Amino acid sequence: MTSNLSKRVAVITGGASGIARAVCRQLGREGIKAIGVVDFNEAVRGVCTEINAELGRECLIPYQGDVTDRAFRSHVFADMKHRAGPVTICVPAAGIVRDGLAVKVDKVAKTAKLYDQDLMEKTIAVNLIAATYWAMETIASVAVARAERGQNGWKGGDDVQGEIVFVGSISSAGNKGQVAYAATKAGLEGVRSTLAKEAIYYGVRVAIVHPGFTNTPMVQAMDQKIIAEHVLPKTQLGRLITPEEIADAICFMIRNPAVSGALWADAGWHPPA
Ligand SMILES: NC(=O)c1ccc[n+]([C@@H]2O[C@H](COP(=O)([O-])OP(=O)(O)OC[C@H]3O[C@@H](n4cnc5c(N)ncnc54)[C@H](O)[C@@H]3O)[C@@H](O)[C@H]2O)c1
Repeated sequence: MTSNLSKRVAVITGGASGIARAVCRQLGREGIKAIGVVDFNEAVRGVCTEINAELGRECLIPYQGDVTDRAFRSHVFADMKHRAGPVTICVPAAGIVRDGLAVKVDKVAKTAKLYDQDLMEKTIAVNLIAATYWAMETIASVAVARAERGQNGWKGGDDVQGEIVFVGSISSAGNKGQVAYAATKAGLEGVRSTLAKEAIYYGVRVAIVHPGFTNTPMVQAMDQKIIAEHVLPKTQLGRLITPEEIADAICFMIRNPAVSGALWADAGWHPPA
């Protein structure tokens, strides 16, 4: 199995809420040494205080900032290294959804409006580019720590050096009204498979979990009528997935070095044609 979590340091983004908050709680319960919990919502501080109190130790360290901010990202990794040791686990889960049809026609004016390009760029910046760079920063953290110990390439064996789990989505397969979001989540597949091939040189595994509709503020903000009529009846569960169920899938991917690639935690629902 992967090395003892009690010596491991993680960075989880989007940790003030939903899936990432549940990942922080579970990794804490599984005995991880320290987690840098990143979110631009100030609620991240209260979440860390609450989970630390549950755990009975100062495991979670809050960092309030924007994941697209490069200087902030460098600061988090440097500060975590100083406080707890080099970061070797990352779940770059911070994400946004900005739905809208790709092309919308005004039948009266006989004009067509394209999906807002600023929203496209913003969604890509947060969901794809930032997630990729937080992951690459983690690979760099492992590689530098190895170099500092006089080690280069990892030779294999049981002591896997690092784990990254991206949070994709069922929408990566294409979903009506989600041209931006789907592009970012499908993009993460290409990033994941490329980083997996490069990072194993340093002993870092890279995986992705594709959740279905999960009961978090992101989904609670959506049109509940659409979810009730078009999603829930077609799932295996007849209900939304819980953040804890997705967190468990992510922690499984972190914990078990025999598992690679993608895990679909979708309750059997896939976007229709
Ligand atoms: N909820 C679902 O059904 C579902 C399904 C598939 C994938 N996902 C993915 O799971 C991840 C977590 O989503 P969630 O459902 O828990 O949503 P959520 O809205 O509960 O949590 C997302 C968190 O990310 C933070 N965030 C957003 N932009 C940020 C930024 N620029 N910098 C720092 N923090 C930022 C938010 O403040 C929030 O706390 C996302 O990547 C989402 O796309 C969610």
